[in-house]
Amino acid sequence: MDGKNILLIISGGIAAVKVPDLIRKLSQNGAHVTPVLTESGAQFVTQLSIAALARSKVYTDLFSLTDEIEMGHIELSRSADLILVVPATAHLMAKMAHGMADDLASTLLLATDTPVMVAPSMNVRMWDHPATQRNLTTMQKDGVQVIGPNEGEMACGEFGFGRMAEVAEIVQAVEDYFQSGPLLGRHILVTSGPTHEPIDPVRYLANRSSGAQGTALAQALRDLGARVSFVTGPADAPAPTGVEVYRVQTAQEMLAVVQNLLPVDVAVFAAAVADWRVDVTQEQKIKKHLSGALPILNFLENPDILLTISQHSLRPKLVVGFAAETENLVVNAKEKRLRKGCDWIVANDVTRATGIMGGTNNTVTVIDEHGAEAWADMPKTDVARRLAQRIAGALI
Ligand code: CTP
Repeated sequence: MDGKNILLIISGGIAAVKVPDLIRKLSQNGAHVTPVLTESGAQFVTQLSIAALARSKVYTDLFSLTDEIEMGHIELSRSADLILVVPATAHLMAKMAHGMADDLASTLLLATDTPVMVAPSMNVRMWDHPATQRNLTTMQKDGVQVIGPNEGEMACGEFGFGRMAEVAEIVQAVEDYFQSGPLLGRHILVTSGPTHEPIDPVRYLANRSSGAQGTALAQALRDLGARVSFVTGPADAPAPTGVEVYRVQTAQEMLAVVQNLLPVDVAVFAAAVADWRVDVTQEQKIKKHLSGALPILNFLENPDILLTISQHSLRPKLVVGFAAETENLVVNAKEKRLRKGCDWIVANDVTRATGIMGGTNNTVTVIDEHGAEAWADMPKTDVARRLAQRIAGALI
């Protein structure tokens, strides 16, 4: 980020107290930070301290005629290499999603054609609210990159998603953004994690996938410069920064999000999607003793996301599937590649003794039209890097 101009919009949330540290770190990395402080942001940090740390004029809503003559707000937003919104409150996100421009910050965001990154920060209920999630989806579709939020303890004492990403994560996301690589300009979709198929309000069908391989892959693709849309089921591994994260629970939800993201250049299906769901999800918890009989669950087959996308009219140029096998690895995976219509299959032996599902290492065999390529056992992060390189190579 050396020499890059970052327009930093500071809106009003308690996480704004982390902004001075963020400015210090961005400046140490060579970026020029131009701060814009909203009226509510000024309740948490002072204009004077921000100006001193950024060694820059701080633009506020009291945007005077002199400012407008020196640098009009349109120019202010467009002269930046990146616009960073930290923290992004639920209110500002709602304004961004709806294209509202009723103060300097929202006007800049609407007037700009510069890439925008936001670090949301809010109470967990506000984050989970359908309105915020709708706004998030709209913003992501508009190309806004979202950093975090993380799960954790909040200033209000509650626990959950909504806690702003740490300063180090935001700096990393900015660094990643400015890094160029062979996948620059490519849009890659990655599915990851298990899916949870509800039986009743407390029970679900699932599998042991931790999401570690999919997460590592999204990171590796991002590091090579790709724009990554990461669609994840309820995984243990925290979602990577610097990618667009879409959280889903079920296979049907995952398919809907994936279809909505097309067209993309490459799609990698690392998720361990549940093959079946129960036909009717009970609204009340199934009681053990009421009927005296054992409950009978009727299963329906879930849509096959990989197969659907391989046959889609907007099929990506490269479609990569995974194969989780417990026997006849290569034979089954070769057959799976043909049956699913994908270009490559990354096959792994998920017999419990291998410790692959939920573990840190992976031993894979990559199958393509030319045959099977067995890779040595290595950390999932190394598998991810090698696979990302292979993908970059295939797109040249
Ligand atoms: N997959 C998918 N949608 C499903 C099931 C699987 O997109 N409903 C994808 C997985 O993400 C993976 C590939 O298909 O990339 C293979 O998944 P796997 O579980 O190995 O195979 P299945 O299709 O479920 O076949 P089987 O259970 O018979 O091995």
